[in-house]
Amino acid sequence: MKKIILITGATAGIGKVAAKALAKQGHTVIIHGRNKDNAQAVCKEIKSETGNNNVDTIIADLFSFADVKRMSEEFKVRYERLDVLINNAGAIFGKYRETRRTSFFCVHTFCFWCTHITIPTIALFLRLDCVE
Ligand SMILES: NC(=O)c1ccc[n+]([C@@H]2O[C@H](COP(=O)([O-])OP(=O)(O)OC[C@H]3O[C@@H](n4cnc5c(N)ncnc54)[C@H](OP(=O)(O)O)[C@@H]3O)[C@@H](O)[C@H]2O)c1
Repeated sequence: MKKIILITGATAGIGKVAAKALAKQGHTVIIHGRNKDNAQAVCKEIKSETGNNNVDTIIADLFSFADVKRMSEEFKVRYERLDVLINNAGAIFGKYRETRRTSFFCVHTFCFWCTHITIPTIALFLRLDCVE
């Protein structure tokens, strides 16, 4: 069964490779990034390389609670459910205590928030799946 998959930080690195591989398998893939132009360029590249037109973009800076919330609302308007959320975005900012705290904040706190905010769409899907 084809899935609707949102990958955070899919404009580069591991996230981009995963997005391409999943699009190749025919899933609907939503590429998340901070920069609209980057995300759209990656989206275009993946569509042309995989032949899968069900590749979309969504933009948010995961350092901003407001932006994460807005992204979640936007997602819910565009898609009826989310099957898979890949919490990939993050960065290691350095070896010092303060920057490590920032890294932890970015990687863990916002992964939690992304997951928490999108749970209603996942839960809805699980309920519908159980009924079937
Ligand atoms: N590569 C490794 O060897 C390695 C090892 C261990 C763990 N990891 C972890 O694996 C994940 C991916 O690593 P990678 O090396 O593939 O990363 P990368 O090439 O640096 O790509 C990071 C992605 O995360 C996005 N991102 C970063 N900060 C963001 C923010 N504040 N809000 C929204 N998006 C943000 C970037 O989007 P923009 O286009 O907007 O910049 C980009 O798409 C990270 O969590 C990293 O810590 C990587």
